[in-house]
Amino acid sequence: MVATSDTNLLAGPAPSGAPRRYVYVQTFGCQMNVNDTDRIMQVLAPHNYRPTDDPAQASLILLNTCSVRDKAEQKMLSQLGRLAPLKEYNDDLVLGVAGCVAQQEGERLLKKVPYLDLVFGPDHIAELPELVARAREHERVSETTFTKRKAFTFIEAEPREETRVSEFVTIMKGCDKVCSFCIVPFTRGREVSKPADAVVREVERLVAAGAREVTVLGQNVNSYGKDLQGDRIPTFAELLRRIDAIEGLERLRFTTSHPMDAIDDLVACFGELPSLCEFFHLPVQSGNDRVLREMRRFYTVAEYEETVAALRRQSPGIALSTDIIVGFPGETDAEFEDTLALLARVRYDTIFAFKYSPRPGTRASEMDDTVPEPVKRERLARVLALQDAITRERMEAYVGETVEVLVEGPSRMASKGQAARWQLMGRTRTNVIVNFPVPLGEFWSDRWIGKLARVNVEEAKSNSLYGTLA
Ligand code: 5AD
Ligand code: SF4
Repeated sequence: MVATSDTNLLAGPAPSGAPRRYVYVQTFGCQMNVNDTDRIMQVLAPHNYRPTDDPAQASLILLNTCSVRDKAEQKMLSQLGRLAPLKEYNDDLVLGVAGCVAQQEGERLLKKVPYLDLVFGPDHIAELPELVARAREHERVSETTFTKRKAFTFIEAEPREETRVSEFVTIMKGCDKVCSFCIVPFTRGREVSKPADAVVREVERLVAAGAREVTVLGQNVNSYGKDLQGDRIPTFAELLRRIDAIEGLERLRFTTSHPMDAIDDLVACFGELPSLCEFFHLPVQSGNDRVLREMRRFYTVAEYEETVAALRRQSPGIALSTDIIVGFPGETDAEFEDTLALLARVRYDTIFAFKYSPRPGTRASEMDDTVPEPVKRERLARVLALQDAITRERMEAYVGETVEVLVEGPSRMASKGQAARWQLMGRTRTNVIVNFPVPLGEFWSDRWIGKLARVNVEEAKSNSLYGTLA
């Protein structure tokens, strides 16, 4: 969950006429939603909305929701319940729900929540000012139709006033895959790629504003460009090449990829494009072929591991992470053991593991959810315990090494305790957080932020490294 109080998009001169208003947005879920929240702020800015982190001050409150896994809707509903009393004190307040739950529920949500004014899906962010104006006229508004592929236009992102060292750029929306457990194709619609020139322009603007690292975002980035018309359609690998060539961009990352799309071209980019960081999040979901078939993932465990081997040949130090689902309908004990065995063979640097939960409308939700909750819980615990041990070993392997750190800012530890005081934090190219101390005078100077530091790693913690300047 990310609140947007640090978003500075709304600073700058206010257009005359419109009264100043405040907007409070609470963001749930993935980086795509965080990015959508930035676009929400961007389209509201010319209408004189400023961000606030106090809902009581806001005349527009939006919950930008996620439905990829269980309980998202309940979480959102109870948050709405907490916010509802504000409507009694503030006649002007418009309360709205955005994101994947909005897309999925639409009108139903208005029926269920009598004090809700506005529900809109991710395709309708550009129209938000009009939707809010309609809601202010006491109309209850629901906009959840998908825009047709050809008619869809992306909102080109403008750098926020204080651009961060590491920024995100959306390169496509939606997903054309049919993974049987996944709601994303229903909430985000078909794939639409942002034209390559627009992507390059956005990255160039961010770099000009001070970003040194960019992560390009999409539900399935390797299928980038498949929907674009015209005789010169860039593939994802070609798009990465164009971004890599941008002057001043130090590091390039991407997320997320499906293991079967154009993967060979992508593997070839590692080690070839200087800015492309040695880190790959490659969701496998299960270590068993029958389960993968039921999940409609369209690869076998052996094919997946061949890709991992190819990546490691191409880029020996590459860090890998993955997503795992335990307790998929019909998953037996033996099939679950196959997932543990895969984790032990691949030795990922990190993983994200989830208990299966049926999502409305998906194919898997029609299967019997056979694995009892306590078994799912136990499987999840075993996956996490195994991975914890592997992650610890992989972190220990950094101790004694000198790593290149892109410095992002003061360490979160910086305010805690005397000893930890003047620490900066950044990441290695393999995406590990590194904290290191600097003298007080340098801590407050511009000397480090956005620069590359060489750090001798002295200690491995569970989620970060500690070192001193080399
Ligand atoms: N149940 C559990 N996990 C899920 N994910 C997606 N849908 C479900 C579901 N129904 C997980 C997958 C995906 C990640 C973003 O969320 O592992 O890669
Ligand atoms: Fe969902 Fe990812 Fe499969 Fe697309 S590729 S359906 S987003 S799990």
